[in-house]
Amino acid sequence: MSGVRILNASGCLDALVAPDVARSLDAFVTKTITPLPRGGNPPVRIAETESGMLNSIGLQGPGIDAFVESHLPRLAALGTELWVSVGGFSAADFATICERLDGEKDVAVLELNLSCPNVDEAPETAAELVAAARAATRKPLYAKLSPAQWDIATSARAVVASGADGLSLVNTIRGLALDASLRPRLARTVGGYSGPALRPIALACVHACAAAVEVPIVGMGGVRTGLDALELVAVGATSVALGTVLFADPDAPARIGAELTAEASARGYANPLDAHAVAVVRSEKSLQIAQNSTA
Ligand SMILES: Cc1cc2nc3c(=O)[nH]c(=O)nc-3n(C[C@H](O)[C@H](O)[C@H](O)COP(=O)(O)O)c2cc1C
Repeated sequence: MSGVRILNASGCLDALVAPDVARSLDAFVTKTITPLPRGGNPPVRIAETESGMLNSIGLQGPGIDAFVESHLPRLAALGTELWVSVGGFSAADFATICERLDGEKDVAVLELNLSCPNVDEAPETAAELVAAARAATRKPLYAKLSPAQWDIATSARAVVASGADGLSLVNTIRGLALDASLRPRLARTVGGYSGPALRPIALACVHACAAAVEVPIVGMGGVRTGLDALELVAVGATSVALGTVLFADPDAPARIGAELTAEASARGYANPLDAHAVAVVRSEKSLQIAQNSTA
């Protein structure tokens, strides 16, 4: 037991298709659920690029009614802690789903997808969406933020002030890939970019938010090895989620968990969470140096 929990990233694992993979996680996160059923965007919806993957799935799913009636009982039967990712197109949508799931004893956490790059955005701010969700449920709420913002720490402070109990960092970032005839490879032209290229971006976002707020952080973005996971922990993540890697390696949760423990212990940390202090002390020092040099 490493002290760092390993989850899947929303949309990157179907627990009903791969129950053993779901059981190898500390918690399973569903694909984002919306109020009504959605067919998602037209194909082509996935394109591989040299250092990551583009997707434009567009929140395909059964809608909250079918989810509660048919999916939830089967997911609960897996015996793995269950997080439900909540999405929508307005504050009212988020409130409706959170209220509906509030009484569901098998749901441990609600992760609010405030940042899907493949659908139209809600008119409200992230903080307003969290406030609407907060008013609708007593369950723990994790706010999932987009890396595509200059000052993510300000967003983190705002969503925590509105009642988020934790952060999930980060969602995909918008990207575009062309084929040999210079046409977009995705039918929707742009998609969400995930995988290795996202890793330094995720590290910077987790680092900035960990310094800004004192809530648990699920770090994700391009994790492929235990060392990648340890780096996220070093900058402030308390859990790590695996996304794109699961498409290539369904055994990744157990492998990365074991590698994480080994990489931490090779650096003298009995618990990987102890690695957090290193990166924080270093960045406080560099801040002091920067302040002294501008004084
Ligand atoms: C095919 C695919 C589908 C995704 N669907 C969702 C989703 O429904 N909700 C969500 O919050 N994030 C979704 N994501 C984003 C992931 O949860 C994660 O934030 C992102 O992929 C970064 O992690 P990674 O680089 O390890 O994949 C999806 C990502 C991929 C690749």
